[in-house]
Amino acid sequence: MPAVSIKPDIYWIGVNDRITDLFEGLWPITNEGVTYNSYLINDEKKAIIDLMKSFKGDEYFAQIDEITDVSKIDYIIINHMEPDHSGLLRTLRRISPKVTLVGSAKTKKLLEDFFSIRNNVEVVGDGDKLSLGNRTLQFFMTPFLHWPETMMTYDPSDRILFSCDAFGGYGAIRGAIFDDLCENADFYEKEALRYYVNIVANYSPRVLSAIEKLADIPVDVIAPSHGLIWRGNSSRIVDLYKKWAEYATEKTEPGVTLVYGSMYGNTDVVMNAVAQGISRVGVPVEIFDAARTHVSYILPSLWTKRGVMIGAPTYEVSLFPPMADVLNMAVRKRIKNKKAAYFGSYGWSGGALREMQKIIEPLKWDLTDTFEFLGAPTEEDIKKAEEFGARFAELVKKED
Ligand code: FEO
Repeated sequence: MPAVSIKPDIYWIGVNDRITDLFEGLWPITNEGVTYNSYLINDEKKAIIDLMKSFKGDEYFAQIDEITDVSKIDYIIINHMEPDHSGLLRTLRRISPKVTLVGSAKTKKLLEDFFSIRNNVEVVGDGDKLSLGNRTLQFFMTPFLHWPETMMTYDPSDRILFSCDAFGGYGAIRGAIFDDLCENADFYEKEALRYYVNIVANYSPRVLSAIEKLADIPVDVIAPSHGLIWRGNSSRIVDLYKKWAEYATEKTEPGVTLVYGSMYGNTDVVMNAVAQGISRVGVPVEIFDAARTHVSYILPSLWTKRGVMIGAPTYEVSLFPPMADVLNMAVRKRIKNKKAAYFGSYGWSGGALREMQKIIEPLKWDLTDTFEFLGAPTEEDIKKAEEFGARFAELVKKED
């Protein structure tokens, strides 16, 4: 894609990534893609705000060439050091060795650790300013969004907040890069939530602190480093991030995430009866097969829904391993404040329930009910399973 003008002398330069399968080597984006948004300010002094992954460098430098000679770049402002935004740093310094790198004190340390860069680094603190000639940028420290060095850059002249990962999302650009020109808003909001829960959610208190800190700054454009640029309704993505961050400690949506796994179909039969019971009560339910769905796609439902229904058989006197993996990730992501219930088949000794309780213990989920059955479910078991699902849904609903 060519460079895109955001405001006079301010450009989006970046690339669509539809090739990488795993973001951070972990989260699937094969079908969704991702963007690395970088920004060029062509003032008397020329600055690039965040770079991009070491990927499609020719395309990226051609975008810069449309606007200015890359060797004339004065500053690279590093809001975040993760290599999806800094991967081209050494290449750019080879072309433009006198460029000054601007970042927080922790960025200076990370530049040494990741790239052995010690020279031409300017450290800025909270509220510090940098004049480019016709405009003066201001920096706000927003640590742990989601690394310790993270900061945001604000351009008061055009009221643009360059927020890096914060307010970003998965999803390659499908033509339109601005929210007001985008006909796929639902896709980007869904992928922003998945990105939030995969990458940022562990730092939800930091998200709320940053939003509060920046509340009085007039912002017309939110320019993150992944996903859409929000200029038609810039408060939309901030409000979404605020809502998702509040879910870490406050009331979530009245729905149920039903995660299940089944070896030979017995737990699957009961799962359908449980789902019937839940939907009979009028509570929305999202169903995921733990063995066939990457946890990246399950986490958004776990994060946003109040109820968690876990269905898994005993496997080697313990919990069906794909379910253990999902729950372990929920622990890592500190998904708390849930009502939970468990059902599953066992052949002789059982053990799944005990292991499940052990895994979720740090989350302090309210385990309201359990339903275990021996071998294949009987007709009676299936009737009980539907009632079990309905009872759980009533509890979830009652909290409204
Ligand atoms: Fe987009 Fe934390 O890097």
